[in-house]
Amino acid sequence: MIVTTADLYKVAYGKFAVGAYNINNAEQTMGLFRGCIQSHAPFIIQISKGARKYTDKRMLEAIIRSAGEIFPEAIYAVHLDHGDEETCYECIDSGFYSSVMIDASHETFDENVAITRRVVDRAHARGISVEAELGMLGGVEEDIAVDEGHACLTNPEEAVEFVKRTGCDALAAAIGTSHGAYKFKGQQSLHFNVIEEIQRKIPGTPIVMHGSSSVPQEEVRRINAAAGKLDPSARGVNEEEYLPAAKLGVTKVNIDTDGRLVWTRVHREYFRDHPGEFDFRPPGKIFMDEYAKFIAHKNGKLGSAGQLSAIRDWLSERATETVAATAMAAMT
Ligand code: 13P
Repeated sequence: MIVTTADLYKVAYGKFAVGAYNINNAEQTMGLFRGCIQSHAPFIIQISKGARKYTDKRMLEAIIRSAGEIFPEAIYAVHLDHGDEETCYECIDSGFYSSVMIDASHETFDENVAITRRVVDRAHARGISVEAELGMLGGVEEDIAVDEGHACLTNPEEAVEFVKRTGCDALAAAIGTSHGAYKFKGQQSLHFNVIEEIQRKIPGTPIVMHGSSSVPQEEVRRINAAAGKLDPSARGVNEEEYLPAAKLGVTKVNIDTDGRLVWTRVHREYFRDHPGEFDFRPPGKIFMDEYAKFIAHKNGKLGSAGQLSAIRDWLSERATETVAATAMAAMT
């Protein structure tokens, strides 16, 4: 069942984080749904501009709709990741998305506010929530590349003004992470002081953590053992920091790179071990199983595993309240 991202935030805020996973094709979608059902977790499907173009946006939407029919017990939201203004409007008008992200973080503060405000007005008129970014993450995300020199952490003072002026529903904050496989050299931590300060200043506003992959060293090692050439010093976010961050209001955690590493490891190892093979379905099946395992593992670390019934209870309580309120209104 597709729900609003705002509903997921209401249940999760301050308790656990909802995994937001980038999806591009049928195998990933199957693995995602299976992993979330296995771990009894609500989730957010993220569709990037690149994913919309990879086959055709209608193809991806059809795959997701079909997965919803195959797994009727799944509870999830559908979200546009890193949209520009035009793509946000397209997704808002499509009626398929629960929420959109407008990323105007590369603009000046005032321009970012103006663009975000326009998107918020249009989205809210259709009951869709908006995530907006303030501060700038480093790393490479599809066609967006920000070198470390230009990356900057979110200023909590500015965050207050930004949320007030834009009316955005969730704040993508730069708290020390970056996109892609090459986040950190050596051990580095999230900037908990910045997260704490943002939560203190705008309590109740869900914080979104982009660039949250952990880049497991074991995946990098296995990929390289199968003729890959990834930098073995690549490091990501420590998974043990997801839950402490969630308690401070980090409610949506974006993960893409780690899933790509699973894909690369499975396919490299498979074709290394079966050099005469040219049927893509055997590795595809292994990938779906491995991706499901990976998703269930992440949901465990995010604290969203086991929360499906909490979401279901909350949705049915709200439905009961709405029925009662409608009946009362009819009597008066
Ligand atoms: P990773 O590259 O760390 O997976 O981050 C993905 C992301 O933030 C998508 O918006």
